[in-house]
Amino acid sequence: FLSKCTSPPVALLSELVQSGSVSVFMGASGGLHSHTLLLDEEKGRLLLGARDHVYLLDPDNLSRAPRKIVWPASLDRVKMCKLAGKNVNLECANFVRVLHNYNHTHVYACGTGAFHPTCAFIELTGHRESGVFQLLPSSFESGRLKCPFDPRQPFTSVLTDQYLYAGTASDFLGKDTTFTRSLGPPPDQNYIRTEISEDYWINEASFISAHPMSDTHNPDDDKIYFFFREVSREGKDKSILSRVARVCKNDVGGLRSLTNKWTTFLKARLVCSIPGPDGVDTHFDELQDIFMLPTRDDKNPVVYGVFTTSSSIFRGSAVCVYSMADIRAVFNGPYAHKEGPDHRWVEYEGRIPYPRPGTCPSKTYDAKIKTTKDFPDEVVSFVRFHPLMHGSVLPLNGRPVFQLVRAEYTLTQIVVDRVSAEDGQYEVMFLGTDAGSVLKVVSIAQENWSREEVVLEELQVFQVPTPILSMEMSFKQQQLYVGSSEGLAQVSLSRCPLYGQGCSECCLARDPYCAWDGTTCSRYVPAAKRRARRQDVKHGDPASQCWDSADGGGLAEERVLFGVQNNSTFLECIPKSQQAQIRWYIQRPGVEHRDQVREHSPDAGTEVRSD
Ligand SMILES: *[C@@H]1O[C@H](CO)[C@@H](O)[C@H](O)[C@H]1NC(C)=O
Ligand SMILES: *[C@@H]1O[C@H](CO)[C@@H](O)[C@H](O)[C@H]1NC(C)=O
Ligand SMILES: *[C@@H]1O[C@H](CO)[C@@H](O)[C@H](O)[C@H]1NC(C)=O
Ligand SMILES: *[C@@H]1O[C@H](CO)[C@@H](O)[C@H](O)[C@H]1NC(C)=O
Ligand SMILES: *[C@@H]1O[C@H](CO)[C@@H](O)[C@H](O)[C@H]1NC(C)=O
Repeated sequence: FLSKCTSPPVALLSELVQSGSVSVFMGASGGLHSHTLLLDEEKGRLLLGARDHVYLLDPDNLSRAPRKIVWPASLDRVKMCKLAGKNVNLECANFVRVLHNYNHTHVYACGTGAFHPTCAFIELTGHRESGVFQLLPSSFESGRLKCPFDPRQPFTSVLTDQYLYAGTASDFLGKDTTFTRSLGPPPDQNYIRTEISEDYWINEASFISAHPMSDTHNPDDDKIYFFFREVSREGKDKSILSRVARVCKNDVGGLRSLTNKWTTFLKARLVCSIPGPDGVDTHFDELQDIFMLPTRDDKNPVVYGVFTTSSSIFRGSAVCVYSMADIRAVFNGPYAHKEGPDHRWVEYEGRIPYPRPGTCPSKTYDAKIKTTKDFPDEVVSFVRFHPLMHGSVLPLNGRPVFQLVRAEYTLTQIVVDRVSAEDGQYEVMFLGTDAGSVLKVVSIAQENWSREEVVLEELQVFQVPTPILSMEMSFKQQQLYVGSSEGLAQVSLSRCPLYGQGCSECCLARDPYCAWDGTTCSRYVPAAKRRARRQDVKHGDPASQCWDSADGGGLAEERVLFGVQNNSTFLECIPKSQQAQIRWYIQRPGVEHRDQVREHSPDAGTEVRSD
């Protein structure tokens, strides 16, 4: 017999579109380049920054009356971009990379402008379908230090209190990478940036994300935390490391040195690794994405990071989770110091000036220090030469919550949803890959403190295997928006009916979004009055949940096939969920009992031969 089990089942785009759980917006012409999303759940609108366009979409239905602003790069710039040897389609256009709500009526936008970044205001008022939606040419200004030149460069920005914070390359070659602040209410519109002359501040960085955050109840302590990976040189070695860094929101730069530079900048290493049996850890050093899962305490969101390995032989990805408390503890700990002939970073054990470098200025702490310009020279000089903390930020439980090794793809994006199920709350991760698919994964804590990673679904949301560039979740709509160079896909968070009609199949799926309601597998709503909702995310044991249902918690489906002796028969089966198991038994002529058909290789999907 030849048996082939397609497990795990990858949900293909055609099935997903047919069942109404995915729809794709392609824009007017192909190749939308959906890098930048701005979702406003309250106003019910979704802005999409794409190549030469900004789209205004209905988050309910991306194809319903889309509106657009055409915003190409100037012909001169396109010509110069081509002359510089750049690719016409992929580089010499205006790729919109910045879209932020500025005030109630205006959105701030920047595009790469064919390697000549430009920013402008978009006026957006009234009803989505009939209101004002226009670019204001009178507001055009340079986008240098706010937006990358190169559309393919990782980049992040965040706008808060009318200030724009951006992590970007500030030049054509993409060599000088910096974290900046710009805009702001007049007259205070100076740029503040990281120091350029010291390569150990920020060196050839790829910026991943930035988040305004309160550290204490004192608003003077408010900071911007940002995440990036950079090239690190220790002695002669060159490697890529991931970082978490922070600056004070009220930093206005130094007086005599570090003028218009951050005087409160500190950074620390962010570690994501699997402890090895022989003490050699497997490191995932290249941060790809960060998601902050809110908690009741807005000072302490849960930090989820997606990392990949930098090794060319070993391709792997992992998700690590961090607490803000651990991150703050590292910034409150010892500083690092470059020492010795090989210039290694070691723990700094000398005297630390007052106020502690990295502390935000506040009248509450010291009446003489009202702004960063009042810092003593030795504080500014200390920050200049000691921006790195000695301690590293380690993941919760000392290891990843999910890892992917020896897979054909790597992870690029993450969003996380907190889902209430019958047996508790679960954090469901939606992970974008570089192959156009989305994995839905839940990490379940077991009684013995170990964690079990369960892949609930794998959805191929783009026809062409292309990296997922952006992901945004609408908690209100229960939808995920997934962008790639192909377009923008709208994906519903769950597809319970696809797990089949039976109680056992529904239970085996272990999907916190789904429960068996007595007749079908459907979306689980904790507050619903319906009785007898059957679900077992923790163990996925149908016997405990479905003993009184038609399938008795046992076999979900039995199929009989007849084969010819001395010949081969194809045993094909497609399990409905990633957790269902399939067993084949063989009953030979004239024999009463059945033997299980065993696969010689433990890998599902391999073909086995049996007589
Ligand atoms: C979305 O909108 C389009 C255009 O109005 C319409 O044809 C389609 O049926 C809508 N889809 C859904 C699921 O409502
Ligand atoms: C929003 O900002 C724009 C640009 O600075 C300004 O022209 C407009 O008056 C502001 N609107 C409100 C309501 O403050
Ligand atoms: C914890 O329990 C699970 C099953 O519930 C088991 O597979 C795993 O091996 C156990 N881990 C440890 C460390 O005992
Ligand atoms: C099957 O093959 C075996 C040996 O290869 C032979 O002894 C037997 O007669 C064959 N059976 C049939 C039904 O062809
Ligand atoms: C063996 O199986 C194949 C495919 O099922 C069939 O075409 C062929 O006729 C069979 N041969 C014999 C000898 O039964």
